[in-house]
Amino acid sequence: MQPFVIAPSILSADFARLGEEVERVLQAGADTVHFDVMDNHYVPNLTVGPMVCNALRKYGITAPIDVHLMVKPVDRIVGDFIEAGASYITFHPEASEHVDRSLQLIQQGGCKAGLVFNPATPLDVLKYVLDKVDMVLLMSVNPGFGGQSFIPGTLDKLREARAIIDASGLPIRLQVDGGVNVKNIKEIAQAGADTFVAGSAIFNAPDYAQAISAMRAELAG
Ligand code: DX5
Ligand code: ZN
Repeated sequence: MQPFVIAPSILSADFARLGEEVERVLQAGADTVHFDVMDNHYVPNLTVGPMVCNALRKYGITAPIDVHLMVKPVDRIVGDFIEAGASYITFHPEASEHVDRSLQLIQQGGCKAGLVFNPATPLDVLKYVLDKVDMVLLMSVNPGFGGQSFIPGTLDKLREARAIIDASGLPIRLQVDGGVNVKNIKEIAQAGADTFVAGSAIFNAPDYAQAISAMRAELAG
């Protein structure tokens, strides 16, 4: 298992002050920035693209930016995110015509690549591309909106994904996204996750540092 990573989702940040918000949440102890990209096509919501990712870099954010693409098609936006300073780029296999090619595009551009599985999407494709995957992201809500409740069936799926990753012997991160909070983070870690996206549980808290340290205390306990 790799060290735990807490990745606040910008979806619940104040977009009018995004640079400051990201800076504040990193100072509060977050490890990476989870950057949710929605296209009103693959998911029923619309957020931000490579220009905003690049604006965060220009603002001085040096922490890893973990770009979660909820867009279809995938490939034609990948290059722009690589140039915009993304660290990780993850995408949904259903949204790519050629999953193996999309993973290669991301890695050849110098970014880490990941596959995202919706709550009802089986992990089947994973075994064919394990050598090209740096992160597996399991959605614990249906993608599109922040503030939804964690779907409990994700725990079994996390155990399944953890077994696949461990059997591979590869240093693949296992991330969970949706409805993660201080009350359920420990159970989620016990099921095998090492990377935790949390949007509303952090950005809606009055004190970001307190919210993040409460999560870390749960993970350490
Ligand atoms: C959902 C996004 C998530 C989500 C997390 O489509 O990918 O990153 O906004 O937000 P919370 O933690 O509020 O569920
Ligand atoms: Zn996300």
